[in-house]
Amino acid sequence: MTKGVRRPKDDGPPPDRNYPIPWFLKLTIGVIVLWGIYYMATNFRPYPGYLTAFHPHPGKITGTPVERGKYDFQTVGCMSCHTVGPYGGTLGPNLTHIASTGVTATFLHAWLSNPAKTMPGATMPRLPLSKRQIDDLTAYLLTLR
Ligand code: HEC
Repeated sequence: MTKGVRRPKDDGPPPDRNYPIPWFLKLTIGVIVLWGIYYMATNFRPYPGYLTAFHPHPGKITGTPVERGKYDFQTVGCMSCHTVGPYGGTLGPNLTHIASTGVTATFLHAWLSNPAKTMPGATMPRLPLSKRQIDDLTAYLLTLR
């Protein structure tokens, strides 16, 4: 008889490599989760508006269009590329005096709605803005003399 390669005996399927979680770990995790639920349940003190307090666009939209436009300008990402006054990014043109360049509301509206359509090859992305936000941003930009 020839000596072949030694093979392990066929012991059935290979052993399960997903080591089971030991019971004491399960118990510890369970205790922590239950304590967490208990903690949250006993410390839950809703106050008026607790669901909307940190929401950037509370249901009631207040302020003048210019104020809302300024707020949007500072919160929707325009300033990552554009500077107004001392603050902002430099990828896009400085908008500190944009209203003095003879730019019109019609142009701004079209530009903010879809830069690439207004100027093919535009770098500025089309931001997901509502019609109201575009109106407000236009009003705000026209104050930057
Ligand atoms: C990713 C960078 C980026 C973001 C974000 C961005 N812009 Fe721009 N923007 C540009 C660039 C770059 C230009 C120059 C034209 C071009 O190449 O697209 C420009 C051009 C403009 C212009 C025309 C300026 C001129 O001199 O004619 C206006 C107005 C403007 N952006 C307003 C905004 C507003 C408002 C927002 C926020 C809603 C915004 N931009 C967000 C990059 C950006």
